[in-house]
Amino acid sequence: MADLWLKLSLVLITIHTTLGVGLPYEFAHHRYEDLQRIIAETHSVCPDISRVYNIGRSVQGRNLTVIEFSDNPGTHEPGEPEVKYVANMHGNEVTGREMLLLFMQYLCNSFKSVWRVKRLIKSTRIHILASMNPDGYEIAARKGPGNVWNNGRENVQGIDLNRNFPALNTIAYKSEQHGGPTDHIPIPNNYWKGNVAPETEAVIRWIKQYPFVISANLHDGALLANYPYDQSKGGSQRGVYARSPDDAVFRQIAATYANAHRTMSLPNSGCEGHSDFGSQGGITNGAAWYSVAGGMQDFNYLHTNCFEITLELSCDKFPPAGVLPTEWRNNRKALLAYIEQAHKGIKGFVLDRNLDPIVGATIHVDGINHDVTTAKDGDYWRLLVPNTYTVTASYNGSTRTKQVTVSTIRARTLNFIMDV
Ligand SMILES: *[C@@H]1O[C@H](CO)[C@@H](O)[C@H](O)[C@H]1NC(C)=O
Ligand SMILES: *[C@@H]1O[C@H](CO)[C@@H](O)[C@H](O)[C@H]1NC(C)=O
Ligand SMILES: [Zn+2]
Repeated sequence: MADLWLKLSLVLITIHTTLGVGLPYEFAHHRYEDLQRIIAETHSVCPDISRVYNIGRSVQGRNLTVIEFSDNPGTHEPGEPEVKYVANMHGNEVTGREMLLLFMQYLCNSFKSVWRVKRLIKSTRIHILASMNPDGYEIAARKGPGNVWNNGRENVQGIDLNRNFPALNTIAYKSEQHGGPTDHIPIPNNYWKGNVAPETEAVIRWIKQYPFVISANLHDGALLANYPYDQSKGGSQRGVYARSPDDAVFRQIAATYANAHRTMSLPNSGCEGHSDFGSQGGITNGAAWYSVAGGMQDFNYLHTNCFEITLELSCDKFPPAGVLPTEWRNNRKALLAYIEQAHKGIKGFVLDRNLDPIVGATIHVDGINHDVTTAKDGDYWRLLVPNTYTVTASYNGSTRTKQVTVSTIRARTLNFIMDV
């Protein structure tokens, strides 16, 4: 019977594809098997621009499955930025999970017909993890929509995954007091002696494996785009803005999502019981809302080159499936616009005098105490808001400095040839 269904659905997919209709969008909640099915179907309809891989397993053995989109899936193309979306880290927050399933189908369906999607996939490697907490989701899904507030939020060990990452903020805050670095802060050894969930560990490995430039972590329970720092500086729990060195960039990328979303940046669009984030453009500094230690977004920023924000997509954490078409209309353009931000600021290569790539060279921007480093091909990406900057590349005692003016259009290319 299962075989018959499989064959039947493959026939249907084939018909859809030959007619140029593409994958049928399913506005429904998808349990684990259905999520896996959508990912597999998407890949089978678009094998030339996608790849499916697992980054690890949940406590109960469910795969943490990623689908990647690129015009050369499976390889890093020198100079091209990589981006990621992660949803459903809190198992009971499900809108993001469904948005990412729709988004992968949309990328596949639109590659040939929508110029903007084609350009994006040709210039960017996009990784999508629709569920970081598949075990928690199953607990929440058994209750269904209207799920009691926190059922299935944590993984099955009772760990809140968005409090489980290495909390590097205290180290960074101490360091910045005496002008020390606030980037590439190592994970303290004692972190691994604590309770690290397998889901968290898999994502940490993933974050370190790819040269991600920008990402978003999709949650529910409010409507806003939340940017670093999440952890307050003075130990206060609530209401104190914790500015990062890249505050201007974070405000720009968060506002990009909020403004491209159909309601997030409108006054009075917020959720009952929360402040009206719409009246401040739909964005907030994390700690200004409430302080979180061990969150994923601060970890990305303090340990790697990736700039991550946290999106809260709907007031209802597990809404009825009937709202999904509206939610898709609300989020579709924002999901595209946000990834396009990976192409802002400056980018380029750092090479040695033989024009071979230098891995691990440092790119420093005057006035911003947060350096990025070059990846395996000597390539780097440095998000910046429009302005004129002095940029220095350094490697093993050798430095090169250049001036650059960044505009609102695509990233300026700034290459450095070092005397090494
Ligand atoms: C996880 O993925 C592997 C490799 O694709 C597959 O063999 C296995 O059946 C999957 N497990 C589950 C629980 O889906
Ligand atoms: C760094 O510079 C030193 C001194 O010039 C040199 O001996 C060493 O080989 C260089 N290391 C690398 C990795 O280039
Ligand atoms: Zn959440």
